[in-house]
Amino acid sequence: HHVVVIGGGQNAEHEISLATAAAVAGALDSRGFEVSSITIGRDGLWSDAKKPLGTSAAASLAQALAILEHADVVFPAVHGPLGEDGTLAGLCSLTQTRMVGSGVRAGAVGMDKWATKLVAEAIGIPVAPGRLVHATDLGDIGFETEVVVKPVSAGSSYGVALARDARQLHEALHAASCYDDQMLIERVIEGREIDVAVLREADGSRWAAPPLEIHTSGVFDTATKYDGTARFTVPADLGSTDRGAITQAALAMFDALGCSGVARMDFFLTDSGPVLNEVNTMPGMTAESQVPRMFAAAGVPYGELVTRLVTAATV
Ligand code: DAL
Ligand code: MG
Repeated sequence: HHVVVIGGGQNAEHEISLATAAAVAGALDSRGFEVSSITIGRDGLWSDAKKPLGTSAAASLAQALAILEHADVVFPAVHGPLGEDGTLAGLCSLTQTRMVGSGVRAGAVGMDKWATKLVAEAIGIPVAPGRLVHATDLGDIGFETEVVVKPVSAGSSYGVALARDARQLHEALHAASCYDDQMLIERVIEGREIDVAVLREADGSRWAAPPLEIHTSGVFDTATKYDGTARFTVPADLGSTDRGAITQAALAMFDALGCSGVARMDFFLTDSGPVLNEVNTMPGMTAESQVPRMFAAAGVPYGELVTRLVTAATV
């Protein structure tokens, strides 16, 4: 099997995607796959072993397609917009290439935090009350209570901020507008941070790994996500009611979006049950990331997890 792993990408999570792609490529290599790695630069230029394949996005993509043409499976290990949002899935669909992970619809909806909330609400999964604002309407937004501001489409908490007063609200909205022209203003939810990962197997069945709890001294923001200070407990210490409810909610979102590959659903566990925070259809996949830890706790070590993802790849 020849697997082409795509890393990098044109967004703030570029380096994180490179780390995921390197971990995936390394694990597949040690499992005996023939692996090629290509990367998408922040500037949109596709490269093969650090060498740009062309001088424009289109020209370099044309050369990259010649590499993808020889792949048995493509593993798009790109987080965030122009990767995880269905664009790479679209490229694979158009070229009839077997790929790991979710297709266009699940990627696009999962990347959009507003659309994700609407789907969750429609199937009875609680989300933080919130509203959508557009970058052109920021002047009209008044402060009422403490809120979280987020770009609708971004990852790793880039552009996410807590706002406790009017000044912080306007700063947060302007900061978030660097990432997207649509933003969410959400009520702050108090609860334990619990993640659930769901895997689609080659036979089409899907199952959830044991939930993981994230412990931080403050907010699980971009810095805390990657500075090594966050602690994870897996399996999370949950009663059977909470564990059942959070696992069912994760499976229901996976099914409603029509996810493939692996997806990680992030929740706050409140006194009245789980509240969905967001969905990641191409979650962080270094050996230290949450998803590999959750599957390891389920008896599926990292090399086996990436092998199953490649085996389950579809056109
Ligand atoms: N967006 C990051 C990579 C994650 O969800 O793990
Ligand atoms: Mg995310």
